[in-house]
Amino acid sequence: LLSQIGPDAHMRMILRKPPGQRTVDDLEFIYEELLHIKALSHLSTTVSSIFISVFNQGEEGTSWYIILKGSVNVVIYGKGVVCTLHEGDDFGKLALVNDAPRAASIVLREDNCHFLRVDKEDFNRILRDVEANTVRLKEHDQDVLVLEKIPAGNRISNQGNSQPQHKYIVMSGTPEKILEHFLETMRLEATLSEATDSVLNDFIMMHCVFMPNSQLCPALMAQYPFPSQGTEQEKMDYALNNKRRVIRLVLQWAALYGDLLQEDEAAMAFLEEFYVSVSDDTRMIAALKEQLPELEKIVKQISEEPKASQKKHKVLLQLFNTSDDRAQKRQPIRGSDEVLFKVYCIDQTYTTIRVPVSSSVKEVISAVADKLGSGEGLIIVKMSSGGEKVVLKPHDVSVFTTLSVNGRLFACPRDQFDSLAPLPEQEGPSTGTVGTFELMSSKDLAHQMTVYDWELFNCVHELELIYHTFGRHNFKKTTANLDLFLRRFNEIQFWVVTEICLCSQLSKRVQLLKKYIKIAAHCKEYKNLNSFFAIIMGLSNVAVSRLSLTWERMIANTVRTVKFCRSQSFNPDAALTNKNHQDVRSYVRQLNVIDNQRTLSQMSHRLEPRRA
Ligand code: CMP
Repeated sequence: LLSQIGPDAHMRMILRKPPGQRTVDDLEFIYEELLHIKALSHLSTTVSSIFISVFNQGEEGTSWYIILKGSVNVVIYGKGVVCTLHEGDDFGKLALVNDAPRAASIVLREDNCHFLRVDKEDFNRILRDVEANTVRLKEHDQDVLVLEKIPAGNRISNQGNSQPQHKYIVMSGTPEKILEHFLETMRLEATLSEATDSVLNDFIMMHCVFMPNSQLCPALMAQYPFPSQGTEQEKMDYALNNKRRVIRLVLQWAALYGDLLQEDEAAMAFLEEFYVSVSDDTRMIAALKEQLPELEKIVKQISEEPKASQKKHKVLLQLFNTSDDRAQKRQPIRGSDEVLFKVYCIDQTYTTIRVPVSSSVKEVISAVADKLGSGEGLIIVKMSSGGEKVVLKPHDVSVFTTLSVNGRLFACPRDQFDSLAPLPEQEGPSTGTVGTFELMSSKDLAHQMTVYDWELFNCVHELELIYHTFGRHNFKKTTANLDLFLRRFNEIQFWVVTEICLCSQLSKRVQLLKKYIKIAAHCKEYKNLNSFFAIIMGLSNVAVSRLSLTWERMIANTVRTVKFCRSQSFNPDAALTNKNHQDVRSYVRQLNVIDNQRTLSQMSHRLEPRRA
C-alpha cells in the first residue's frame, strides 16, 4: 500500500526514515494520508481497517508491539475476532519467542493507532530476559492459554547463530487452544523421532487426561480444512503447512494408540474420514502426496486388524494366562478380551462368569445374576486373605486385575456382607517348596524370573500408566497389563517371606536366605531391578528380618564383606572435592527429619486428602 502512495515529498521523507525515528506527528500524517488514498476512500472505516492489519496470521514474526494509542482486534482464521487489545497492551511476542508463525492477525480498530515497535533483534538482545514470565491469551474475555517462560536449554545451533534462550511452554488453557498452539509451534522439518518433538509427544500421550479422543478428533478435523480462502501464495502456503501439521499429528497419535484404537469406534471413524479428506486433497494439492502413503498404511493396518484379531480374541483364565500361552509369545491383554473368573458366594461355592476384562462392577453383577438366576440387591465384595472386605462401586473397573495376590471376589445380597469370610484356600500353602527350588540354580531362577518380568512389562502400554495415575474409571479403560506387572512384584515379595517362614529347619533357612540374596544379585546383573527390589523387600519384611538366629548364622559372611569394603579406598571425585561445597557438605551432615510414621501419614493426608 505504502509504495503506491503518490509523489508526496513529505510522505516519502517519512517513509525513508528508519521506523524508530518516525515521530508521532509523522505517524499521524501517514495514517491521514492512507485514509485519503482514492482506492480506500469509498470504503467505510471499518472495512478499510481490514486492510490496515499490522501483520497476518501465519507470517513470520519480525517485531513486538506495544499499543501507545488506539486499539486492535486479534483475528484468527475460522474464529474471527477473538479479543481486542487496548492502550498499554502488547502483542506479537509469541512468534518471536517460540520462533513460530504469527498465531493471529492484528487488525487496526481505529484510524489513529500508535505503536511502539521493537524489532526482533532488539527484543532478543534487550527485552527477552526482562519480559513478563507469564503470557495470558484471551478469547472473548476468557483466558484460553497461559504460557510461562522457561530457559530453552542449550540447544546447539548448527548455523552458529544465537538460539533463543527462552521459550514459552503451556501451563494451562482450553484443550482446543492448546491443540491450536501445538499445531502452530510444531516443526515440520523435524523427523518424528527428534527431541524437538518431545513436547508434541507429551501432548499426544497426555491428551486423554484433559481432552478425550471424542473431543480431540473433532478438533483435529476442524483444524484440517484450514483457510482455503485467499488466493495469495502466502495464504496457500500457510494453509498447506497447516494441513501437513495436522496430518503429522494424526500420524503420531495413531502410532501411539496402535491397535488400541480398535476399541474406540469414534476414533476409528475419524481416522477413516480424515484419510478420505486427505486423499481428496492430494488431487488438488500435490505437496500433500508425500504424507499420504504413511497415513494409508496406518489406516489400513488399524482397520484391518480387527478382522484378524477377532479370531485371536483371547479368553483368559483366572490367572490371566491363555490356555495356549506356552505356544506363543504373551500378547497384551485388551479390554475386550474375555476372562473366565470365579465369583464366590457366602456358602463358599462359586460361579464362573465370562465377561470382558474391562467390565465394570455393574456388568459383573449382571453376569453373576444371570448365572444365579436372581440378582436382587447383589453387591460385589473384594476380599483379602486377611478378611478385609471392600464393597466395590458400580462404576469401578479392572476389578479382576487389581485384586491382591490371594484376593477373591464375592457376590452376595447386601445384608450378608457381615457374614462373609475368606476362603481357606486364600490362606495359601502350608508347606514350602524349598525341596524343589533348592535343586535349581540361582542364576537360572533369576533368568527365568527376568524373562517373565520382561514379558509382563512388555505388555504394558504407556497409556496404562496415565489411566492408572488419573483414575482408570475416568477413562473407562483397562490397566490390566500394568496391574499384573505390579502384582507380580507383590507376589515375589510374599514368595520370599512365605518360603522362609515355612522352612522350620534353621540350617535350611540360612541356605534359603543365602539363595535369595544370590538370586537378587543375579537379577541385578540382568538389570532386573523389579525382581531385585521385590526380593530385597521380601527379605526386609519384618517376618523375615526379625529372624535373628537365621541372620546370625550369616554373620561370618557379612563380617568378611565389611572387612573387605573397609580395605578399599574411597576415591571421591577430585573435581567436586576441590570446589568448596561447604554448604552442601554441612547440609548432608545435618539432616533434620520427622521419624514418626503416623505423623508423616497424617501430614500426607492433609496435603492430599483421599479422593472420593
Ligand atoms: P504472535 O503469535 O507473535 O502474533 C499474534 C499475537 O496476538 C500473538 O503473538 C499474541 O501476542 C496476540 N494474541 C492475543 N490474544 C491471542 C489469542 N487468543 N490467540 C493468539 N494470539 C493472541
